[in-house]
Amino acid sequence: MKWQIEHFDEVDSTNDTVRGRAEGAVVVARRQTAGRGQRGNRWCSAEGENLTVSVALEPVFLGVAQQFLLSEAVALAVVDVLTEYGIEAAVKWPNDIYVGDRKVAGILIENDIRGSVLGRSVVGIGLNINQLDFPVELPNPVSMRVATGVEYNLDDVLTTLLGALGVRYESLADGCFSDREYADRLYRGGIRARYALPDGTQFDGTIRDVLDTGELIIEMPGGEMRHFLFKEVEFVM
Ligand code: BTN
Repeated sequence: MKWQIEHFDEVDSTNDTVRGRAEGAVVVARRQTAGRGQRGNRWCSAEGENLTVSVALEPVFLGVAQQFLLSEAVALAVVDVLTEYGIEAAVKWPNDIYVGDRKVAGILIENDIRGSVLGRSVVGIGLNINQLDFPVELPNPVSMRVATGVEYNLDDVLTTLLGALGVRYESLADGCFSDREYADRLYRGGIRARYALPDGTQFDGTIRDVLDTGELIIEMPGGEMRHFLFKEVEFVM
């Protein structure tokens, strides 16, 4: 993938700035005034300390039913970056990136459907790199620097990230992407832990797998394998 990188001091949201640009466009901002997270949340990131970056893709080779594969590939690319810097990371389903029990990166993918395939996708990544202090209202943030004590060069991390993203995206395009790797990298995968249902009921279960549709399979206390869609189950932290 040939990336066309544009740097901005300030944008509303890099996802909005990159939307409409050609495949391979990359927008990086020192500051977002309206950075967006999943579920309508805001994404807060200290100016110039982290990466807030979005890329434009045209994954027309993916059918609508396969869109979760893009999410998997992007999550694994972020894990690849952390691995390259010697940091062990996991994917908290569906696509938060965790170091230990804390969130180091978030991903917001916005897809435009064209007929039966994905026409365009905007992939936004917020990766906490050098930030040391976080607002108290954030539940469990961490940065690469907090994890290792090392201060990183943002341009180097960006280069590593775009390299990893290119490799994972091309493996998707070539049809040789392995979704097993995503399942193997899951935070709490195979470990009994506590979850909550939307009505507040809690239960202890074990993550066993993820389907191509993105459904999470949890082994319930009685041994039943139950499938959950996004928002149908929450991790109790
Ligand atoms: C989440 O975990 O809630 C997803 C966070 C995604 C944040 C990134 S930062 C770059 C891009 N621009 C945005 O407005 N959001 C994404």
